[in-house]
Formats: sequence, C-alpha cells, structure tokens
Amino acid sequence: MALINIDDLVGGMLLAEDLFTPSGRFVLAAGASLQEDHLKIFKSWGVVEADIDEASLEEEYHQNQELKAEFVEQAQGYLVPRLILNDLDSEPLVTLYRHVLHRFTLNMQKGWQPETFSEIEMPENDEGGQQPLGVPHLLRGEVDIVSLPTVYTHIVELLNHPNSSSPQIAKVISKDASLTVRLLRLVNSPLYGFSGKIDSVSRAVSLLGTDELSTLTLGITVIQQFQDIPSDLLNMDSFWRHSIRCALFSKVIASHLGEKAAEKYFIGGLLHDIGRLVMLDRMAPQYSVAIVKARQKHIPMYRAEQDCLKTDHSIVGKLLAEKWRLSPALIRMIGSHHSPRLAHYSTEACIVHVADFLAHACGHEVMLVNEVPELQIKAWEETGLAEKLIAPMIQQVDAEFNDVVRVFFAESEPVG
Ligand SMILES: [Fe+2]
Ligand SMILES: [Fe+2]
Repeated sequence: MALINIDDLVGGMLLAEDLFTPSGRFVLAAGASLQEDHLKIFKSWGVVEADIDEASLEEEYHQNQELKAEFVEQAQGYLVPRLILNDLDSEPLVTLYRHVLHRFTLNMQKGWQPETFSEIEMPENDEGGQQPLGVPHLLRGEVDIVSLPTVYTHIVELLNHPNSSSPQIAKVISKDASLTVRLLRLVNSPLYGFSGKIDSVSRAVSLLGTDELSTLTLGITVIQQFQDIPSDLLNMDSFWRHSIRCALFSKVIASHLGEKAAEKYFIGGLLHDIGRLVMLDRMAPQYSVAIVKARQKHIPMYRAEQDCLKTDHSIVGKLLAEKWRLSPALIRMIGSHHSPRLAHYSTEACIVHVADFLAHACGHEVMLVNEVPELQIKAWEETGLAEKLIAPMIQQVDAEFNDVVRVFFAESEPVG
C-alpha cells in the first residue's frame, strides 16, 4: 500500500483502501481500478491523495519517485541559502525542510529551474531621489487605487441593511459580469467540493450564505482592482501566486484547527501583502532602495522597508483594510502577519504568519528577495499544529493551487 499524490495517480492503479474526500465524503471503494474519469472527479471533489495497491504501481512510477543524489544536492544548494533566516535544526523546521527538500528535488528532476531576479539599479542618491511618503499620504490620491469598487460597497450596504434579501444581493452581483463569472468558478472549484453544479448567483447566495459570499466578493473585487498595477520592480505573476498559496495555506491550517468560516482565512491570506502594492504604486523609487538594501544585507523585505521607509507593507495594508472597513479579524491577519506579537498572538495573526512562511518555503515563486522570512516559533506553537500535519497540508495546497489560480486569473469566459 502506498499513499500517492493526486497528480501522480494514473488509470489502472488499484485502490488499496476506501477513498474519502478531505471532508469525509465517500468517493470510491477499495479494490476499484482507477479510470481517467475517476481522476477528474477526485480533483473536483478536492481529493489530495489515495492509498494505492503497491503491486499495481508501474515501474515508471517508482523510477519517477526515486530521488537522484545530484538533484538532492542541487535542491539543498537552492534551499539552504533561502532558509538561512531559520534554524533548520529545530522543530518544526526539521520536518518542514525534509518535505520541502523532497518536493524541490523531484521538481528539479522533472526540469524545474529556480527563478532569477532582474537586477535593480540603485537610484542616484540614497533616498531614491525623494523622501519616503508618510503612510496617510500613501493612502490618498485622485486616481484612487485605494478605494474599493462600488459593487462591493453596494453589496456590503445591502448586507448591513436589515430588510435586504438574498435575491436583491444576487441581483447586484449579477450586474457585474466578470465578478459573477469568477464567483461561480470559485464556488464550483474543489475549494468547496459541492457535488452538483452551481450555475446562478442566487443559488450561490443560498448555499453559501451572505457573510461568506461577501467575503469572497471582497477577494475577487480587490484582485480585479489591483491585478493590472504595472511594476518594474515586482513580478506581478509571482506576487499573486504567492498570495494564492498563502490563502490556501491559511484556509487549510484554519480547517485543521477546526476554525469556523475558513473562507475568512482564505481571503486574509489572499490580501496579506496588499500594502506592498500600494507602496510600489505610490513610491517606486524609494521602494527600490529598500529592495537593494534587503538583497545586500540578506534581510526580509519588511525589515528593509522599516529601515528605509519608516513603515512596512503590513502597516500600510492594515490602514488600507481599516479604510475599507474590513472586519477586525481581516485587519489583524493583514496587519500582523509579520509581527503576530502585536496582535497578542491572536489565532488570525498566527495562522496567516505560519501560512505566509509555508507559502514562501514551498512556493516556486520568489518575491523581491531570495530569503524566506523567519518563522516565529511562538506563533507556530500558538496555532497548536502538529508536525505530522505539514506533509498533508503541503499536498492539499498543491492539489488545489492550479485550480484557484485559474479561478482568479483565467480570462472571463462563461462557466460552462
Ligand atoms: Fe508580507
Ligand atoms: Fe507574504
């Protein structure tokens, strides 16, 4: 019997044990021979792995899973400098490093190459030609990247109105075609694992409830608003891939811990670095000084921001979240993801802090600097997560990642 990741399952393998979804729904009985159609259903129901009869594994599978010494060495050479800010001799880093090394070695064997940074030129004088802007100034402006789209404001007004009804809310959402398409894609994705297809906003409202729906609408409208901010300094694709990975880790950790309303954590993870986009948009020259310093000194970006700009992206994000009147929980997730201590190690702050670390450590995307920020052990301990959950959490995020990227970033063709 061998536990095989969903991406490595192929037709013809035999199930050694009954298969269930992560939420406990029965999928297929032990002894069944997997067919191509099964694999699609498994994915859409959020199945992450299956127990397979060893005798039915092809020789090719074993060869693909075998780690080759030269690639192990390459992966170590890549990962050790990336994790330099963390103590790899203590738990949970020991367990995490073992899994991450295995994962990167396999990916390198399959031909994956690490991303390289584009060089950033130091502006002529040390201040980037200009003084850093104060935070209040950052969040002001005529061309307002920092106000939420009216559709979201309208929905929140309706939700707060005691007499508003689900059909009214559905009607407002349906007026925005792109929002509707993305919302339906999201509720039909493995993130939710509903068995039947949800093809109308009013059905989504009645299945999810208004709170959850407004949280998802928030995530989608913010991404639409910020998606196309041009930046010479930051690869936006990497930024959003990191944000989605952090969103998935936040949700997976929250559900392992039995937290209710896991979608709140998903959106908190998705928006945790949003302050960085405001800083890049509003003071790119000064920000480039912080990037150069972070790379020279091998320190995390938020520390370089504090040194050079007298603030950091978590503070800017927090103020933005307050301006948007987001919930106190979301404000804590965004504002304290690098300093959970400031939020008194609240569950929200600790979960997003750990999720951000896992997203950096496991992600292929590298943002601005090479080093993964340090995992604060106290925050890890506060979550109460067991080390043995690290591997299943990584697998679950990997299994859902591409589908969620597609939900947010594929062109808006109708759900069909
Ligand atoms: Fe951050
Ligand atoms: Fe982050």
